[in-house]
Amino acid sequence: MLSRKICRNWRVPKGQELTELDKRVLYFQNKGHLVPKRSLIKTPEQIEGIRQSGIVNTGVLDLVASEIKAGMSTAEIDRMVYEYTLDHGALPAPLGYEGFPKSVCTSINEVVCHGIPSEDEILEEGDIINVDVSTILNGYYSDASRMFVIGETTPEKQRLVDVARECLIIGMEAARPFGFVGDIGNAIEHHARKHGYSIVRDLCGHGVGLEFHEDPEVEHFGRKGTGMLLVPGMVFTIEPMVNMGTHEVFVDEDDNWTVVTEDELPSAQWEHTFVMTEQGLEILTY
Ligand code: MF3
Ligand code: CO
Repeated sequence: MLSRKICRNWRVPKGQELTELDKRVLYFQNKGHLVPKRSLIKTPEQIEGIRQSGIVNTGVLDLVASEIKAGMSTAEIDRMVYEYTLDHGALPAPLGYEGFPKSVCTSINEVVCHGIPSEDEILEEGDIINVDVSTILNGYYSDASRMFVIGETTPEKQRLVDVARECLIIGMEAARPFGFVGDIGNAIEHHARKHGYSIVRDLCGHGVGLEFHEDPEVEHFGRKGTGMLLVPGMVFTIEPMVNMGTHEVFVDEDDNWTVVTEDELPSAQWEHTFVMTEQGLEILTY
């Protein structure tokens, strides 16, 4: 009798011969590990499509990087994102996504993520802002975000921004083919804690490519060797949200989008879209 239900995500069509990849994944599935559905493994053509989408996405972020400054409204950032994206034959994925009203998320200081650009929100010297850009090109999705420091900020906020970036890099380095999603989260949380920071638990990275949000959920905390198996061909984001104080967050009741830290201390986040290869992770949003 089975003492534990094995989740059989990986199914090989009847009569089809097992590939080397099938055998490797089935080995983990039979040991009781969570493995991806076969449909999460992108074809080389799909990966190329996501890469092209990522090139436009990176262009948007580079444009924002060159223009962002004190005195600018977040609505101006939104217009820049919208125009550049359309000029490059693409669409901004946030626009109209589950009712989101703008083309980009702009999240300042204690706003963790999903901030809505507004004419009334003016960037000030010392602000730290996350600009989260997601692009659809020829049906392929890419997703990345960066922090920008407006002028000069306090050493405390600058350190938060820097450590959040390190968390993304460290998470990326912890991901290896036939490792686990939990390896990534474990490395990230460890690094954040070492600096006295906390990791947001209510929001996570995600599979991406054919849709905006696909499996797996990529938590930025956890235990090594747990969570979904990382198989070459999977495309997903890593996007740790690092808080100066408590990890607890709430959603603004006025707009039902803006996520804010419970203690209203600052938060920082960096994000890339990656493809897992036989050799390790490759960034698709450089
Ligand atoms: N870009 C966000 C992410 O990293 C998702 C934003 S959803 C939106 O997953 F509707 F707010 F755009
Ligand atoms: Co994302």
